[in-house]
Amino acid sequence: MTAADLVLHGARLLTVAPLKDERPRVGPAAGDVGALMDGFVAARDGAIVATGHGVAHEAVERVDGAVDVDVQGRVVMPGFIDPHTHLCYAGERWEEFATRRSGADYLAVLAAGGGIHATVRATRDATDDQLLTLLMRRIGDAAELGTTTIEVKSGYGLEPDEELRQLRLLARAKADAPIDVAVTYLAAHALPAPYTDDRKRFIREVMNAIAIVANENLAEAVDAFVEKGVFDIDDVRPLFTAAKKAGLAVTMHADQLNDVGASAFAARAHARSADHVARASAEGIRALARAEIPAVLLPGSAFFVGYAPPDARRFISARVPVALASDHNPGTSPLEGMPTAIALGVTLCGLTPHEAIVAATINAAHALGRGGRIGALIPGRRADIVVLDSDDERELAYRMGAPLIAEVYASGRRVA
Ligand code: NIG
Ligand code: FE
Repeated sequence: MTAADLVLHGARLLTVAPLKDERPRVGPAAGDVGALMDGFVAARDGAIVATGHGVAHEAVERVDGAVDVDVQGRVVMPGFIDPHTHLCYAGERWEEFATRRSGADYLAVLAAGGGIHATVRATRDATDDQLLTLLMRRIGDAAELGTTTIEVKSGYGLEPDEELRQLRLLARAKADAPIDVAVTYLAAHALPAPYTDDRKRFIREVMNAIAIVANENLAEAVDAFVEKGVFDIDDVRPLFTAAKKAGLAVTMHADQLNDVGASAFAARAHARSADHVARASAEGIRALARAEIPAVLLPGSAFFVGYAPPDARRFISARVPVALASDHNPGTSPLEGMPTAIALGVTLCGLTPHEAIVAATINAAHALGRGGRIGALIPGRRADIVVLDSDDERELAYRMGAPLIAEVYASGRRVA
């Protein structure tokens, strides 16, 4: 066996290993964290080389200067994967938050030129350096809370030139970040005012931008907000066709506030994931199950906006792979970190604590097209590891807000 440069032993180890082939976890596997008592994980050059239990770790050779930690009494688990965030923004929305809590409607605020448009104005006014500083701070905050892979969307530029500026800043952030960043072009988030009377022209210009994004390798996926009064399926279809032709994945803000048939459309479009899905129809859920597409539940936005959260039991019982994300954004979900998303996934959506952990690790990896590379502690995977200051991982769901993240390793290097 290869000598290791990192060994954590004596742990309650959650491998989240597949029973057979690697697939998004559904059915009984949706709550199987693969726990091993007195377990160890060994890594070399950023990849896991061995796992096991008991004294077997003593047989693992250590390189000079290896990190070798006895983590008895602690849980060691895969780093969290946050598959849906909007970190690239400036400005906060305190006023809107307050008016919404006293009854203002999210989509009405948006239609009146506030909401997403308010953040677009603040983000356009920010300099590149200011935005980059904000991005790096937010990515660092996520790492402190145990996230080792984070999806970050553009989407507060709206007009293609401004979106491209954000994507180029995201490329710089990705290059410098201590954790892996998966960049998404949120191409259709709200219709910019100059296009109010010519939606078709906006769609054409976005299609040109998609070609640039693919050529310059600025994003892995294209996203759209498919919602009543925002963009409909007919608007988005040509964008997704163009994205897929250019080799990009597609994903969607689907059926968040109204059932507009977006979940079934996500299945037809072979989307990488369908996100929000709080109002998904039974037919939409069946379509996602058949296509094995992860539903990314975002309880933070239901919590902060105050709408009925997605019922995870509908998805779990239909055998849809369920993932969880923070949806961090200044409008609907100023939520920080995956431990809180896990706690809300359990308390609001009805996941069990173990289902929520699977949803925040391996199923979230599948939602980012990384199901074979991260999300589980098995030889060959990237050494993205979290050590909890707890001997029971269910505490993540139970002691909401507690400082449970003791150590974080990304590609085998300590990042928090
Ligand atoms: O995931 N609903 C659309 N997009 C974001 C919120 C954007 C905003 O309000 O700034 C979401 O909820
Ligand atoms: Fe979102």
